[in-house]
Amino acid sequence: EEVAPIRAALLQWYATVHTSRNMPWRKQYDPTLDREKRAQRAYEVWISEIMLQQTQVATVIPYYNRWIQKYPTIRDLAGASIDQVNSLWKGLGYYSRASRLLAGAQKAVADYEGRLPDNAKDMQANIPGIGRYSAGAICSIAYGENVPVLDGNVNRLLSRFLALHAPPKAKATLDVLWNAATAMVQDLSMNSTSTEYPGDVNQALIELGSTVCKARDPNCETCPLRPWCSAYATTQPTNNTIPVSD
Ligand code: ADE
Repeated sequence: EEVAPIRAALLQWYATVHTSRNMPWRKQYDPTLDREKRAQRAYEVWISEIMLQQTQVATVIPYYNRWIQKYPTIRDLAGASIDQVNSLWKGLGYYSRASRLLAGAQKAVADYEGRLPDNAKDMQANIPGIGRYSAGAICSIAYGENVPVLDGNVNRLLSRFLALHAPPKAKATLDVLWNAATAMVQDLSMNSTSTEYPGDVNQALIELGSTVCKARDPNCETCPLRPWCSAYATTQPTNNTIPVSD
């Protein structure tokens, strides 16, 4: 399947919806930012992605704003104590996320001059608490690297898109899904007039999965990917036979 028209439809949809959602960590990707400013963006996206892992957008927003106010840079975070960090996290749950942020910041300051590594491979290998999903999200959004994301929402969306009918967490299934997610961000034009950015593709997939291709009631009528969707083609949009992966 040719990915370019699918990606174009996805990005066109994203452009019409994301501006209305007002997430403070979302900023237009700017390929001209210098190294320091990109690393600062990576820090901010990292905080947001870790907070968003088990928590809804609306809940995260005030926590994110308080966090950035208290720790505007990774060096500010690295100098904090675990008690200070936990108290700012109070109410978000899954407190290990907060301690991993602190450990990650300390590592970045000790070994990387206070900048998160600028590619997903190094970031995932060297920063505690950053797995393949987080590295893909941070590096695509902040650094413009062509790396994929696969979270629960994107897993469900791509499983339906490919009509996978397979155990969603099995290794073989995940390999297929990561490959499909990779295809979505591959071969993006690198010329300076292109406005197709991997961070936008990834955030569009996350957003489409969480707001349209929902677990219980997919809104196929409003889905920009419907013309290419195998689940849609092989089932009726309103019946329950569309595969539900989680
Ligand atoms: N959930 C996880 N990452 C997200 C992002 N970048 N935007 C919106 N929701 C998200």
